Amino acid sequence: MRTKPVKVEHIGGPKISYFHSGIICSLRKGDIEVIPVEIYRQHKDQLALIKPERWNIYPSRYDHVIQAIAEYHPAKVMEIGVLNGITARRMIMEMLTYMDKPSYIGFDLFELSPEDEGSKSGVESHWMVKWKLSKFEGAKVRLIKGDTNETLPAYKGPKVDLIFIDGGHSLETIASDFHWSSQWLKPGGVILMDDYYPEIESTGCKQLIDSLPDPWKWELLEPPDSPRGEFIIHMVKVWKNEG
Ligand SMILES: C[S@@+](CC[C@H](N)C(=O)[O-])C[C@H]1O[C@@H](n2cnc3c(N)ncnc32)[C@H](O)[C@@H]1O
Repeated sequence: MRTKPVKVEHIGGPKISYFHSGIICSLRKGDIEVIPVEIYRQHKDQLALIKPERWNIYPSRYDHVIQAIAEYHPAKVMEIGVLNGITARRMIMEMLTYMDKPSYIGFDLFELSPEDEGSKSGVESHWMVKWKLSKFEGAKVRLIKGDTNETLPAYKGPKVDLIFIDGGHSLETIASDFHWSSQWLKPGGVILMDDYYPEIESTGCKQLIDSLPDPWKWELLEPPDSPRGEFIIHMVKVWKNEG
């Protein structure tokens, strides 16, 4: 019986040797190889599984985050809700087009969220995401693991130029994420917030955004997404009127 192949990278520890199709194969730190799944299972602590990214379900409204980075050229960004780091990676790659040492700070549970069914697909460990984001030479990456209702109030800086809020979906968590993270926004900085449903108040950031007091300003970014044509989701840009 043929065994299922998986693509892995050896991420540390001793050389791994195994016997496959009549030959002895070996893997050292840094090697990327397609190997039988049994070998991966035996050496899981030393091998990172390289899964194909699920671009087919990646929402196109996330392009607004990358466009904001291209427009504002932030040196330090913060992301609330990292998941498996797809947008984190895009943000860092965009920043590296105009500077050598960008800084990225990401907050996430890095485990299944009790609050949010939707976040269950694609969850990866803190160490796995850290490893993926360590590939960008020069970029300073800091990942803060835990519930943002606790980790954000305990955060001690630094201030950042751009914040992308895309974490827990409950009204309480969204309000808390905005309240605590926005205190670390530099003057002239910008916040991108996902999940503005124009027709839904009970989830997402509509309630919070619609009630933002002065000097906050906001704009729904076009185009929104409309998954299966059932509802509309906007990315929102929020900033402070400093004048
Ligand atoms: C929609 S996903 C983030 C997607 C990511 N921004 C991207 O663009 O690829 C939401 C993330 O928020 C995280 N999350 C949900 N509730 C959280 C909480 N209370 N504290 C920290 N992270 C939370 C989930 O673990 C999940 O990874």
